[in-house]
Amino acid sequence: MYTFSKEVFSERRQKLIDLIGPDSVAVFVSPGERKRSHDTSFPYRQSSDIVYLSGFEEPNTILVIAPGSDDGDFVMFVNDRDPLKETWDGRRFGPEGAKEVFGADSAFVIGDFEKKLAGYFYKREALYFTKDGSSRDDFILNKLTQLRFGRDGKSGPRILVDAREIVHEMRLTKSDSEIEVMKHSCKIASEAHELAMRHTKPGMMEFQIQSVIESHFVKNGAYGPAYTSIVGGGDNATILHYIENRDRLNDGDILLIDAGCEYKYYASDITRSFPISGKFSAVHRDVYQGILDVEINTIAAATVGTPYGELHDTARDGLIDVLRQLKIFKESREEILEKELYKKYYPHRSGHYLGMDVHDVGPYSERDGSWKTLQEGTVITIEPGLYFPAYDESLPAAFRGLGIRIEDDIWIRERGPENLTAACPKTVSELEAIIGTAG
Ligand code: GLY
Ligand code: MN
Ligand code: MN
Repeated sequence: MYTFSKEVFSERRQKLIDLIGPDSVAVFVSPGERKRSHDTSFPYRQSSDIVYLSGFEEPNTILVIAPGSDDGDFVMFVNDRDPLKETWDGRRFGPEGAKEVFGADSAFVIGDFEKKLAGYFYKREALYFTKDGSSRDDFILNKLTQLRFGRDGKSGPRILVDAREIVHEMRLTKSDSEIEVMKHSCKIASEAHELAMRHTKPGMMEFQIQSVIESHFVKNGAYGPAYTSIVGGGDNATILHYIENRDRLNDGDILLIDAGCEYKYYASDITRSFPISGKFSAVHRDVYQGILDVEINTIAAATVGTPYGELHDTARDGLIDVLRQLKIFKESREEILEKELYKKYYPHRSGHYLGMDVHDVGPYSERDGSWKTLQEGTVITIEPGLYFPAYDESLPAAFRGLGIRIEDDIWIRERGPENLTAACPKTVSELEAIIGTAG
């Protein structure tokens, strides 16, 4: 098994069964393979929910959790073994491997799914399923209708629940073994950012720094980036999702790098911003230090029991103060808030959940619409930033074309927030001591 032991997945499935109850059934369908161009595909990435519940990585997979069914609680539908196909496309476990290695009570070839499905639906109260654009969506939902309204005396689930309601709530709280993997993902990413700082020199290309980072990811056993790396110098840093990474790095500009790796299916997500020359100008230093102070204060506010939305408010209010100190806004704090003037320079939120997906799953609010409070075992990012567009003539010239974000990955704990990316340099003096020092 690539990630955790068979027992870990079996415990997760048992928890799922306990949560949905014996009269329900849950179905999880893997995503299709995606064409990249002509006859090549994007590398296959199993859905995080299927990896979370089984550790199984192959395409054409369906998991059925059907408590007490004739085939057992956990049924897998998978690719058949086929020596010729395996020679081309890689190894497959087949139904036997699904049982032996992945702990399925029964396993069948994927082609049997359609004829077997009704058997798992009979007499169930609820189906937990996520309609997610897979080619099986229609078949599964039509089968529900057919059983409920058909004339053959059968019955099927009357209640359809989005499976994410349960599984994503489970994924929100990380176990100790998940945290160990996340710590490693964060360690690799922290080192990669430090290496990038050391290699940065004026005149280099953004993609050269990207290659320093991503080669460190792969060299250390990560799959690669958890999302497309952002390496933007100068005003490219003011484009939040800048991913072209093909401009030259200029002396006197700031370089913003937002990059994290996926290690054993767990993402890290770090942003650092630093001067390409190795020395902050006075203006850049003032902006940077202001944002860093806000980031540190927001991390300190990430305590168990804090309503999630308060973190954004803390970051937003701190950034408004920075904008006023820099004299970018002359209006009062109240007016800036009321008219949402700050959104011009701080358009995103303070962060997000982090886990198997970079923008990890799990609810941010309760059913009554109040914010969910932070709980022990959740991992979040905190990532305040300010972005001053080059074209904004209302700004003093020294600020135009400047983008700075600082982002760390925070493990929420009873004893206080723990920064999993603390090893990644971020103070002005740390940065100035290492930028451009690689031989
Ligand atoms: N890299 C995506 C984010 O920071 O949210
Ligand atoms: Mn992030
Ligand atoms: Mn990021």
